Amino acid sequence: MRIKTRSLSTQLIVSLGLLLSIFGIMQGVSSYRLALVGVDALLDDRLSTVAARIRDVYEAAIPHRSNGSGNADDIVVVVWTAEHKSPARTTDSAVVFDRNSPTGFSQQFAAHEAWRVYTLVTYDEVIQVGQRISVRVRMAQDSAARALMPIYVLIPAVWIAVYICVRRAFRVLDRLGRRAQAIDSAHLVALPDEGLPVELLPFVSSINRMIQRLDESMRLERDFISDAAHELRTPLTALKLQADNLQGDIAPQNRERFQALRRGIERTSTLVEQLLQLARADAQMTSTPPAALELTALVASVVSELLPIANQKRIDIGASELTPARICATEPDLHAVVKNLVGNALRYTPAGGSIDLRVLAADGYARIEIADTGPGIPEDALPRVFDRFYRVNHGVEGSGLGLAIVRAIVTRYSGRVTLENRHDGVTGLRAVVEIPLLAEDGVRCAEATG
Ligand SMILES: Nc1ncnc2c1ncn2[C@@H]1O[C@H](COP(=O)(O)OP(=O)(O)OP(=O)(O)O)[C@@H](O)[C@H]1O
Ligand SMILES: [Mg+2]
Repeated sequence: MRIKTRSLSTQLIVSLGLLLSIFGIMQGVSSYRLALVGVDALLDDRLSTVAARIRDVYEAAIPHRSNGSGNADDIVVVVWTAEHKSPARTTDSAVVFDRNSPTGFSQQFAAHEAWRVYTLVTYDEVIQVGQRISVRVRMAQDSAARALMPIYVLIPAVWIAVYICVRRAFRVLDRLGRRAQAIDSAHLVALPDEGLPVELLPFVSSINRMIQRLDESMRLERDFISDAAHELRTPLTALKLQADNLQGDIAPQNRERFQALRRGIERTSTLVEQLLQLARADAQMTSTPPAALELTALVASVVSELLPIANQKRIDIGASELTPARICATEPDLHAVVKNLVGNALRYTPAGGSIDLRVLAADGYARIEIADTGPGIPEDALPRVFDRFYRVNHGVEGSGLGLAIVRAIVTRYSGRVTLENRHDGVTGLRAVVEIPLLAEDGVRCAEATG
């Protein structure tokens, strides 16, 4: 049988449940049949026993004539003697069996009904004990139906047991699935193989080999970017110096083109610096060890650093809430995070707009919020803005690496960064960075980050 579901556990539960139910039903049918046969034999036994008892002890108790007890379930006893043509004694005169039957069981028709009759022929009399076949069938069926009772309880119990067993067996797979889901480029760790069923080991070890290869190739790629950026840095610095030296010798009619050339060199230097920063953040490299860092001070210093640009653009930048929040990080890393996000807000918010910063601490996380009054980001582009070199607004200069750097750094500190369009009656973007607060229990920061 093919069960149309993609869930292996549902397939197993349904197949095992159905299989065991079919066995249960087959067992039920055979118990029912056996019970029918058994009850029939028992009733026969009763008839012959009654006949023997009447012969030995109770004949005098049988009346000479009787109209029966009125109870259709009763057995009827008829005693014939040689001198009488009609029954000498009977429990129901309306029922007359064939007195010529030999000793043993027979099926007879009397008083418009079928009877099972046991005839006992002795030297001076014939004792017949009969019971209605319809009564026997009903009694056998009732008793066989009672034999089925356990099956009614067992089948649902089997389904529950199968469900529990299969879910338990699959719990290990669920756990593995959750661990696998947590793997991404910033978190390439091997899946644990202890405690796993042997059937899963080849699968897990091939995934782990793949993770190892992926880690290696990503490391090579990071090394290449970092090496290339390093190599480019020196000639670019030389180029900048030469341009500076040339400045005085440029003819007035060439000044504008010369300035464009300098801006180009400047942009290229920035790009190379960003590539280096990204490679370092991806490789989880820090020049200084992480230390306790107060975010309010850091945010204030970034704001004062960028204040001249804000003033130039007539953008009102300020912090509406600064709750003390300490995290464990390096100053250059967090400076890069906040500067990139506030830099974006300044870059994409039109002149005359405003930028509001907040620092909060709640639920074990420090939270930095940067809300601007710019155009926001189209919803369909939001999932991609953290990709390297992905840009939405090509009218404004930029290389598309800022948010990739932010995410790499924040992820390294076990935090998260999200961007959302504002829904508080103002158009604009809200960037939120959340990083675990530094524990107050005296665990040293360097130990906490390993
Ligand atoms: N505050 C914002 N408002 C509107 N759009 C934004 C904002 N911040 C980022 N974006 C969009 O996201 C894109 C990616 O931003 P990201 O910081 O990664 O690159 P960039 O600013 O273009 O260049 P740079 O590498 O110099 O930062 C930007 O091109 C811009 O379109
Ligand atoms: Mg940017």
